[in-house]
Amino acid sequence: MKILITDPLAEEGMERLRCEEGFEVRKKVGLKEEELINLIADYHALIIRSETKVTRRVIEAARNLKVIGRAGTGVDNIDIESATKKGIVVMNAPEGNTISAAEHTISMMLALSRNIPQANASLKRGEWDRKKFMGTEVYGKTLGIIGLGRIGREVARRAQGLKMRVVAYDPFISKEKAEEMGVCLLSLEELLPQVDFLSIHTPLTSQTRGLIGEREISLMKRGVRIINCARGGIIQEDALYQALKAGKIKGAALDVFEKGKPFDSPLLKLDSVILTPHLGASTEEAQKRVAMDIATQVIDFLKYGRIRNAVNFPAISSQVQEKITPYLSLAERIGNLEAQLVEGHPIQVEVIYRGELASFEVTPLTRALIKGMLSFALPEVNYVNASILARERGIKVVETKTLEAEDFTNLISVKLLTDKEEKRIDGTVFEGKVPHIVRIDDYSLDFVPQGDFLICANVDRPGVVGKIGTVLGSYQVNISGLRMGRKTPGGKNVSVYSLDNSPPAEAVKDLLKIKEILKVKVVRL
Ligand code: NAD
Ligand code: MLT
Repeated sequence: MKILITDPLAEEGMERLRCEEGFEVRKKVGLKEEELINLIADYHALIIRSETKVTRRVIEAARNLKVIGRAGTGVDNIDIESATKKGIVVMNAPEGNTISAAEHTISMMLALSRNIPQANASLKRGEWDRKKFMGTEVYGKTLGIIGLGRIGREVARRAQGLKMRVVAYDPFISKEKAEEMGVCLLSLEELLPQVDFLSIHTPLTSQTRGLIGEREISLMKRGVRIINCARGGIIQEDALYQALKAGKIKGAALDVFEKGKPFDSPLLKLDSVILTPHLGASTEEAQKRVAMDIATQVIDFLKYGRIRNAVNFPAISSQVQEKITPYLSLAERIGNLEAQLVEGHPIQVEVIYRGELASFEVTPLTRALIKGMLSFALPEVNYVNASILARERGIKVVETKTLEAEDFTNLISVKLLTDKEEKRIDGTVFEGKVPHIVRIDDYSLDFVPQGDFLICANVDRPGVVGKIGTVLGSYQVNISGLRMGRKTPGGKNVSVYSLDNSPPAEAVKDLLKIKEILKVKVVRL
């Protein structure tokens, strides 16, 4: 496995990767897009922080890439859509730098309220000016937090320790959850006029880009102070500059900027602005943690297929992952079998999860099912891109759960509708680990879906099995097992022959000459 690291990563993480048998680790920091494009083709994993931009062109050039690991939280420097389409897992290490980012925010707020950086610079210039740097207490003031996630919450706790009143805006958390933290959850319009300090803690997304602009600033009190240690671009810098110049905003503390490095920004010229060069996570502790976290996650994924903190794959805990692994295999095989048995172009896949499965997070199972189904036509399909590839091909996926499982404790029931027919296949897992197919269309049967098979629909008459055996024997194909499903004697049946080797096309032609045989499919699972 070849691992490329293109941003500074703490030595502990580097060492963790280097110690892994079969891993070849290379670090190359400060690459331009073109240089990364020229280098990426050979690598299986790319590890970055915030400096490297993983663009669509980089992803297109990445022939072997399986995983992009972000040592930190923000993934706005990665083209996730392109990575997902290509089946590349994007994972971050979001927990390790939470405390550092929260502490930096509090430091920025206190520095802002007491003009510490400005006073420090003034004294170093040989001035002794106490009036100019009159500050304000944070005690008893209102702090507004936008984005009450990991960092927002830690900031809230620390601000409460400073005896501030904390209010927040976050449309994705409940009022009750906020109240448990002693935080009053408000709409943005309610929050803005109340706050003395405003701190941003959302990711940069299409909804948060430009979230704080002229209109929002006009709703704030005169003299408000703003801190942004989240992402540049959430506050519109033009509007911020105008409001600072007009004195509407008393001061701003920024760790992140619209343009990565703000050297051309007029904000640099304002005394009321204090700036740090993206230092929120720059502590020894945070860097050690995120480097170790991402190294371990990348190793676990490349070696054991375990996916943690993926931003383009549904989150599943390790306990749930252990439980659903046999079902992943079952779902994939059902999808695979459907694709090999059905005639025509798929239009809709309807999957029903029955019994104990109904209590699981089933999205990964549906992805496994689609992966199995598309893998014949699209070798590049994997768990990450399966849903996108199905959608792109106009295949509708309908997922339902029910506690009723007919005669089984768990059952995956799949109906594939094509422009020519509809095929139903049901499967279950026995003894917690062995996948079994228990139904094809209206026929109940039971076989383990692994190996080579001949699946026949034929009229249920004496001697048919013998005739099939004779044809297969004449092509040196040995039958190792037979399972049959029928509704009424003398009617139609479906028989599944397990084979030691796959029959050639001529054998299938000969089988179709047997008058009782209605349909034959050779299947490999
Ligand atoms: P998180 O995902 O735990 O929290 C983000 C919160 O924002 C969530 O609660 C979410 O519901 C909320 N949110 C999303 N969209 C919103 C919207 N439109 N309006 C209001 N709230 C919205 O993330 P986190 O780990 O707390 O990180 C927060 C930010 O800090 C991210 O942008 C991250 O990249 C950044 N960060 C910066 C540094 C740094 O060095 N300056 C370090 C770590 C993280
Ligand atoms: C993050 O999102 O984790 C931060 O921006 C920290 C960093 O990458 O240094």
